[in-house]
Amino acid sequence: MKTDPASVVQRLIPHRTPAQEQATAYAPSNIALSKYWGKRDEALKLPLTGSLSVSLGALGTHMKIQAAEEDHFALYGKPQTPDSPAYKRLFAFIDLFRDPMTCLHIESHNTIPMGAGLASSASAFAAAVLALNELYGWALDLQSLSILARLGSGSACRSIAHGFMEWLPGEQEDGLDSFAIPLTLDWPEFRIGILTLSETEKAIGSGEGMLRTLQTSTLYKSWPDQVARDLPRIREAVQNRDLVQLGETAEQNALSMHATMISAWPPLLYWQPKSIQVLHKIHALRSQGLSVYATMDAGPNVKLLFNRDQQQDLTAHFPALTIIDPFAGAGDVLNHE
Ligand code: DP6
Repeated sequence: MKTDPASVVQRLIPHRTPAQEQATAYAPSNIALSKYWGKRDEALKLPLTGSLSVSLGALGTHMKIQAAEEDHFALYGKPQTPDSPAYKRLFAFIDLFRDPMTCLHIESHNTIPMGAGLASSASAFAAAVLALNELYGWALDLQSLSILARLGSGSACRSIAHGFMEWLPGEQEDGLDSFAIPLTLDWPEFRIGILTLSETEKAIGSGEGMLRTLQTSTLYKSWPDQVARDLPRIREAVQNRDLVQLGETAEQNALSMHATMISAWPPLLYWQPKSIQVLHKIHALRSQGLSVYATMDAGPNVKLLFNRDQQQDLTAHFPALTIIDPFAGAGDVLNHE
């Protein structure tokens, strides 16, 4: 019989009785430098390839979970109705972990700028798992926490720690060997720039988009080979703090992922005219000697990769740039509150 998310949880958590009345946790969002695109198992969110990301330091999700008389979920202090997509998705996940008799009051707050095109689902599911781990007193290790976060959203498995994270795809049918590990090194000069080009919600989310790509794009067949080439290069670039190798590989990886999306049917063309303008501008700046590279996810916004010494020049060229220092205040492996 095929393993389902409930039986994975059953194997990893020791009990379902809260050990304390409430718990809070924080998890950072993350951006992939070598992307996760395509699953080998939809229900367990098992990827077809590995991926490597960098967490976004202070940009992420704070979550408070507390035992209560009835279920309640507030986002930015605003109560969400049980029929809202955010409520349904969060409680469907929470139901995997709790005794059906336990009601929970959940408050969530993202420090990610709204509409910045940064996924908050990765940090939200990671924060939920970290908070549940505290509430129930499970004392799970990083590996188990990552596996559990993955069941909410694949990329959430890379959000349970700060810094560079590599998601090992695993081979097992139950996915117990599919989790992210921190690459224990920092890179204090490394910066990520966010350019918000469109605040409109994406029409097709990542999960649906990757399934469609897998099923309809012939180009997708070349994606595992692309990752097999890019991921070790990015890992090596991180180890050597080599921005050129990291940037060149990450940009090519992102554009290759978009090539598979564009060749899906119906096409997944996430780019807007402004996205292409920014890509051209980045290429022009590079030819003038600036070390700056681009990455993009399942949306129109462009993220810039560069080192601190380019910051001033880039702010002059892109006044609206939001700059993230992924290692500022990100000393802890698990940033429990
Ligand atoms: C393009 O983790 O959001 O951002 O596992 O279906 O929840 P599900 O998908 P999700 O996909 C993220 C895709 C990406 C690339 C990446 O983050 O690696």
